[in-house]
Amino acid sequence: MVNPRWTAPRVRAQKGKHRIAMLTAYDFTMARLMDEAGVPMILVGDSLGMAVLGFENTLPVTLEQMLHHSAAVRRGAASAMVIADLPFLTYQVSVSDAVLNAGRCIKEAGVDGVKLEGGEVRAPHVRALVENGIPVLGHIGLLPQSVHAMGGFRVQGKTESDVERLIRDAQALEEAGVFALVLEGMPSDAARRITEAIRVPTIGIGAGPHCDGQVLVVNDLLGLTERPPKFAKKYVDMRAAMQQAFGAYKADVESGAFPAPEHEY
Ligand code: KIV
Repeated sequence: MVNPRWTAPRVRAQKGKHRIAMLTAYDFTMARLMDEAGVPMILVGDSLGMAVLGFENTLPVTLEQMLHHSAAVRRGAASAMVIADLPFLTYQVSVSDAVLNAGRCIKEAGVDGVKLEGGEVRAPHVRALVENGIPVLGHIGLLPQSVHAMGGFRVQGKTESDVERLIRDAQALEEAGVFALVLEGMPSDAARRITEAIRVPTIGIGAGPHCDGQVLVVNDLLGLTERPPKFAKKYVDMRAAMQQAFGAYKADVESGAFPAPEHEY
């Protein structure tokens, strides 16, 4: 039996009750496996750019690519809430861009909501999306789409004034209507203070243990990433397992061991 679908109100209601596990996925098979494992939230992150498409960062990812992969994830996820990341320059330029491009994610890929990066400056975009019926997951702290402005992938919120600004950002996004907020790349005490300052769940990545939930890039969890970030936890060494399987297959084909001579067609 399929469990009831996770929705934005259901995720929001977890605050203070249950911790939330979110993973990224980019295709049907991964989404199906996560859904079967009971993972409530799947993010089609623009980490797609690095994890799947071989780019150096998230900036080249296009809306068409996100739609293509989000639709595949949607087909694999019966119960999990599926969120599509809005790629660089698909929402920053104007509020109407944000509504039209997020709307395409809902209409064409069938996702349940979108994520966008940025604090107080994005409040008008969030408000317009929410007013048009599109659930929004916020994202503050280390913002991969601002890698050049930040001078690299740098931890944010290291000084008291930075933490105060992040708290203001979180409160502005809450007030604009986000149902949850990703906190990326910040000291755990900063994440704790933000988590305590708002009534929607925070979902941390590289932000310590005090958030209401956590998100991991699936390639890091599976041990597929060549140089994973320090905070990531590898639950299985799929890199080694896959290299071993590919090598064994090659050897079998070359030696004639596969297909077996008695194999029937
Ligand atoms: O693109 C992504 O995978 C993300 C997560 C790291 C939150 O934004």
